[in-house]
This record gives sequence, C-alpha cells and structure tokens, in this order.
Amino acid sequence: MAKPKVYVTRELPERGMKIIKERFDAEVWPEYGPPPKDEIIRKARDADALVTLLSDKIDAEVFDAAPKLKIIAQMAVGYDNIDVAEATKRGIYVTNTPGVLTETTADFAWALLMAIARRVVEADKYVRSGQWKVSWHPSMMLGRDVHGATLGILGAGRIGTAVARRAKGFNMKIIYYDVIPMPPEVEKELGARRVDLDTLFREADFLSIHVPLTKETYHIVNEEKLRLMKKTAYIINTSRGPVVDEKALYKALKEGWIAGAALDVFEQEPTPMDNPLLKLDNIVVAPHIASASYETRSKMAEMVAENLVAFFEGRQPPNLVNPEVIKIRPLSRLF
Ligand code: GLV
Repeated sequence: MAKPKVYVTRELPERGMKIIKERFDAEVWPEYGPPPKDEIIRKARDADALVTLLSDKIDAEVFDAAPKLKIIAQMAVGYDNIDVAEATKRGIYVTNTPGVLTETTADFAWALLMAIARRVVEADKYVRSGQWKVSWHPSMMLGRDVHGATLGILGAGRIGTAVARRAKGFNMKIIYYDVIPMPPEVEKELGARRVDLDTLFREADFLSIHVPLTKETYHIVNEEKLRLMKKTAYIINTSRGPVVDEKALYKALKEGWIAGAALDVFEQEPTPMDNPLLKLDNIVVAPHIASASYETRSKMAEMVAENLVAFFEGRQPPNLVNPEVIKIRPLSRLF
C-alpha cells in the first residue's frame, strides 16, 4: 500500500518530524513563516493528512479543495483555527496536543505574572538605558506583592488548575470561574472557590486567563468587565488574544482602571507595531510562547506523529477532538 501523503505546514521538532518522515510520504513547508492559504490549498489537493499550527486557517475552502483529506493533526492544544464542525461533517478527523504543555504553559503564565507585578522588564530596560543613577531609593520601581494576593482563574481546565496549584506556594487566595466546576477534591486541595464571572473580576488581584477561544469566550474580557476590576489588579493572558477586547484593555490600562497586563497572545498575531498597547509602560508582552520549552515542543511534535500513526493504522487517535466523526468515517487500516 502506498504511504499516505502528509503535508506539514512547518518543520517540527526533530523526534516527531523523524517519525512522520519515516512513516509517511511527507512534504514540509520549508520556510520559518506560515505557508500562504493558497499554498495550503494547493498542497491539500492530494494530501491524506495535514499537520497544522495554530496560525494556519483550515476551513471549508481548504476542505473543498481536498477530496482525499482524512485527518488534520494540529500541533497545539487550541484548535480555534480549524473549522471542526465542517471537518466533522466531511468525515475529517481533527487531533490536538493537550496535556504535555500544561505545566510549561502554567510556568510561563507565572513568569508573566511575576514580571508585571514586580516590573521585571521595565527594570531591565531602566538599567540598560542608563536611567539607574541613584543606587537605592525607597520609592524606586515599586510593584505589588504577589504573595497573599487573590488569584482569579478564568477557565479552570488543565492549565488554569496548574496555574492555581503554583499559587499555593505564594499563599494566595484562589477564586475561579468556569462553567464546569473543578473536581471537589481539587477545589479542596487548592482551597479554591468557584465564583460568578463578575465576582471574579471584582475580587482578583491577578486575573489569569485560560479559556479556549469560542463564540462564548470571544471578548469575554470587555469594557464592562474591566470596569469591575480593582485599580491595583493585573491581567495575564496566555490563552487566545480575541478572548480580550484589546481596545477596551487599552482604555483600562491608559486610564488606570487596572494596574497592568501581561500578554502572550493578541487579537492579531504577530501584533502590528502600531498596536497602541505597545506604547504603554504598564504591560509586558511576549510572542505567543507559553508552551515554548525544548522538552514540551518536542513532546507536542511526537504527539502529532502518534495521532497520525494511530489513525492510519486504524486505531482511534489518542487526542481526537471530534470523536463523533467516527460514525461518519469509521476507523480502518489505511497503510
Ligand atoms: C498554543 O497556544 C496552543 O494552543 O498549544
């Protein structure tokens, strides 16, 4: 049987890439930046599988051009770039890479939280740019205490819970909002209290966002909610940019409704250089790198390979996000 054709939209970390190249007839987009949509469409024409990143928009236009396409293996936990409902209708499997990036992403949410609370990035710039002229001053670069503060978790899934768990070491009070409550034993272990959305915004000193991007969470952080927050509070976003209304956030930061924000994600990525948020001092920014550790990215690529191999061997891929697709295209050995 001929090897299935797999189009991979970027060079992946080595171990996963090696498996894909050995097991499949793989073609990889060679550039650092994403392939244009036209290129994805062209390559999808005779592909059995696509390996995608969160910056690749995969929708009906791609599916229309791809009669042989059977599976999309995304290297990310989030998959809002893929029209999953449309894929399911057409019998196309969609997989993601959950779990392996939970702790790494939680580490980074904490890096951002600490950086904004204690002005780490500002302080670095202050020293390097020669502004440090007085050795020590009682009011130089004051920030806010993290220990003992209230951490608000918006979205208490795997990553939100891992962020909350770290807060215990800082003796923080933990509140959270999620449509699904944490298991009672986890709530107990963390001393976490489930609150309604407005209470979360009102009471949090640090609000860390961990919801997926859906119709329900789009701009869930908006002007109305930001106005509920404490003037001394901070927002940390390592989920998806469009969860936060950036225009409202800009107003909130500029006019002092909140103290600061640390953002790994933006409504548009890369964020344009004329994004007014970048002019503010009370933000810390990063280029969507919360899961970017050597170990985790390598594991994510391996998971992509495992999902593909399972599917083409006729087994259910371990990280299938649309299991209802099995009724439409039953599993069968394809190589
Ligand atoms: C990264 O943002 C991911 O969804 O894995």
